[in-house]
Amino acid sequence: MWVKEGQAFALSFPLLLPLSFPSPLPPTIEDHNSRKTQKSPSPSPSPLKMTEGQSKSTAVVVDFTDSSTVYDNVKQATAFGMRSIVHVPQIKMETVSALSAFCEKASMGCLVAPTLSIGSILLQQAAISASFHYNNVEIVESKPNARDFPSQDAIQIANNLTNLGQIYNREDISTDIPARGQVLGEDGVRVHSLVLPGISSSTTVYFSRPGEVYTLKHDVTDVQSLMPGLLLAIRKVVRLKNLVYGLEKFL
Ligand SMILES: *[C@@H]1O[C@H](CO)[C@@H](O)[C@H](O)[C@H]1NC(C)=O
Repeated sequence: MWVKEGQAFALSFPLLLPLSFPSPLPPTIEDHNSRKTQKSPSPSPSPLKMTEGQSKSTAVVVDFTDSSTVYDNVKQATAFGMRSIVHVPQIKMETVSALSAFCEKASMGCLVAPTLSIGSILLQQAAISASFHYNNVEIVESKPNARDFPSQDAIQIANNLTNLGQIYNREDISTDIPARGQVLGEDGVRVHSLVLPGISSSTTVYFSRPGEVYTLKHDVTDVQSLMPGLLLAIRKVVRLKNLVYGLEKFL
């Protein structure tokens, strides 16, 4: 089973019930990774409806809609006693704060997950550990289509490696040579984006020092890769009484 972008679903094991049907496109890896550039019409916030047979205690709403609609969706889900998993592109921090305050008051569980990919989180964690031991780091990412570069994955990793008291790639900090890649953030992390039809979506982080290269790589070949993260999120969110940001809190 997989759900389409732009939809919200209520899950009540083992049922999966769509709550709304706003103009979704078929999901692909590219859609998952680069929805922020997609100019699909914003789905109108349609009221959630409880369907017969859904048990309130275990029902979870999975919200793949849009940053502008999630607050109302979580409120409505809460009115039905349902917890929410929110995975929408580029959610604003104000929205997360507002949701957090709301969930706190309502003692309602909610997970806001910028990524549902466990592999992406493991890559971030491994990159953070490695960054303490290497002074050079460059990210190389690949996608079959040219859009949304640098990707959210690359931006997040650069973020993860920034403000750790380290300046990377000090030997050539100049940004004058485009072929040396784009510098992301303040600390000198560089990213190089490849576009090659037929290639799988991948993120590679190279760490090095003289005499050694340490490489971390995550390949994604299918959107199914998000399923274990989604299932983990569902299992954990049913026990929450507040908002948690980031699936990594559950790993
Ligand atoms: C990496 O950075 C992203 C974006 O800033 C953040 O959401 C995520 O929690 C960080 N990952 C880890 C493992 O700290």
